Amino acid sequence: MKMSFGLCSIFLVFWLASIAYASDPSQLQDFCVAVPDSKNAVFVNGKFCKNPNMVVADDFLYQGLNKAGNTSNQLGSFVTPVNVNQLEGLNTLGVSMARLDFAPYGINPPHTHPRATEAFLLLEGTLYVGFVTSNPADPAQKNKLFTKYLYPGDVFVFPQGLIHFQFNVGKTNAVAFAGFGSQNPGTITVANAVFGSDPKINPDVLAKAFQVEKNIIDYLQAQFWSNNN
Ligand SMILES: *[C@@H]1O[C@H](CO)[C@@H](O)[C@H](O)[C@H]1NC(C)=O
Repeated sequence: MKMSFGLCSIFLVFWLASIAYASDPSQLQDFCVAVPDSKNAVFVNGKFCKNPNMVVADDFLYQGLNKAGNTSNQLGSFVTPVNVNQLEGLNTLGVSMARLDFAPYGINPPHTHPRATEAFLLLEGTLYVGFVTSNPADPAQKNKLFTKYLYPGDVFVFPQGLIHFQFNVGKTNAVAFAGFGSQNPGTITVANAVFGSDPKINPDVLAKAFQVEKNIIDYLQAQFWSNNN
């Protein structure tokens, strides 16, 4: 009796795990091409759908991802996103992508995508990439760093929500493409969010949080935190 209850519990756990979503919820129609209509006082989880009778092939087309992004900025990298904000036909379909360009020694600084796991393909160049796990349950342990050097043809996964980075360690440009399990993965660049917010986070909060003198926080908050995408 006890045994069968245990087995049932195990099956219940697996069943519950199997219905957890790994991407946006399934769409309820063939497609739902987004329209920039905010006049309507209705909110949907995503964007409004264009009348399907008005939908054309161009609604599903984005052009120009063969072109390199401009990496002449302080980070030496540029992200060209192709999500529902650039390609309306992606609305409700649960995927998106991006092109990433890196000048020699360019960096895509530590950031997270709150709504998507990222599958990252390096086409050209050499990158040092990594991500850090969330806080461990055991307070004696530390957040764990996973890193790899990537070479052309390598695919690396950045799990949803975890802080990650890509750094060009080669002497040549690097080019990568990323796939996301969300039409709108979102990006939080850690330094920009913490030191470059508007209005600024009270420096006393950050001095205490980072255990440093307030003038260090003042210095960091005075910097220009550029956003590479
Ligand atoms: C790239 O960006 C830099 C800095 O904004 C600008 O001066 C330069 O003209 C841009 N290059 C191209 C090819 O657009």
